Amino acid sequence: MAMIPVALAGREYEVRIARGLIDQIGEEAGAFLRKKRVPLVTDTNVAAFWRRAVEDALDASGHEASWHVVSPGEGAKSWHGLESLTDWLLAEGVERGDHVIALGGGVVGDLTGFACSILKRGCGFVQIPTTLLAQVDSSVGGKTAINTGAGKNLIGAFHQPSLVLADLSALETLPAREMRAGYAEVLKYGVLGDAEFFAWLESMGPRVLAREPEALEMAVARSVAAKARIVAKDERETTGARALLNLGHTFGHALEAETGFSDTLLHGEAVALGMVLAARYSARRGEISKDEAERVARAVSGGGLPSELAGLSLKCDGQKLANHMLHDKKMDAGTLPFILLRGIGDAYLAKDVELADIAAFLDEQLLA
Ligand code: GLY
Repeated sequence: MAMIPVALAGREYEVRIARGLIDQIGEEAGAFLRKKRVPLVTDTNVAAFWRRAVEDALDASGHEASWHVVSPGEGAKSWHGLESLTDWLLAEGVERGDHVIALGGGVVGDLTGFACSILKRGCGFVQIPTTLLAQVDSSVGGKTAINTGAGKNLIGAFHQPSLVLADLSALETLPAREMRAGYAEVLKYGVLGDAEFFAWLESMGPRVLAREPEALEMAVARSVAAKARIVAKDERETTGARALLNLGHTFGHALEAETGFSDTLLHGEAVALGMVLAARYSARRGEISKDEAERVARAVSGGGLPSELAGLSLKCDGQKLANHMLHDKKMDAGTLPFILLRGIGDAYLAKDVELADIAAFLDEQLLA
């Protein structure tokens, strides 16, 4: 088992990464389960695979599961979803010192974490992420949120979990496309800050995607360790360190907005292509070589992810994509910071990027 500490003063917690953690949930999370009845939040897909195992494991440790099961998909991260979850937690008698378990992907984790941040001014929660994306990104670091009519994740809070159990067995049943979408975030850690890990992924990526146990554990552990280091340095994204995790996200956000935040382009796929665009844009500014940018593109396409903007057949121009960026929540006093590259493994926050230049670059890429 890999155990990665997230070193936040006074609120340190552990991310445990191994197979079989869900089957041991009573023991693994036992320190946080002070009452017999354990409130769990999940979605119907995850419940179909894991409800029984969780109930048996909790039963074995003298606990009893109580479930709040939401519909799969972003729709659950709404005001309405928040209201029904908090009402349920109140009816369950959850107190500040209690812990709620979030069992699922990013939607379940974000919704549950946010509900726990406001329930009685804050109760505890344990994350059990069941997708690769949630294991390497959203379950670690305490960003929680819901969506509103104005956009995704605009209402939220920083609220750290007390424990994260990343059970690699949960990835066995993950659809291949979801696995690839999560792999985009794994690649991101190499591109933004760890050239050696990037090189390792260039050769071992197929084994990670094939879910070979050792390769998978190494990829998840190294990604989580990278995220834990960054979060410990800049929990609330104020110094610029945590902003590096947004590599690929500004371009990606525009692509998601243009495709209606639909299954046409999953978040991870948009981030993957966004990362290639950030690399190529950095090359256009002369900050990295074209060869390095194309190395990023090859690693992305080698992971079965989109690496060519022209391949999306979008019916829009670069200006329209750039306009979507104006609604990005990272906008700061009228300027949009971009994460660019000085090399593979060397990302930085650029504050001098003109959206008109981005639009011209995107026009080139749309035709390439
Ligand atoms: N997913 C970006 C962050 O956690 O900061």
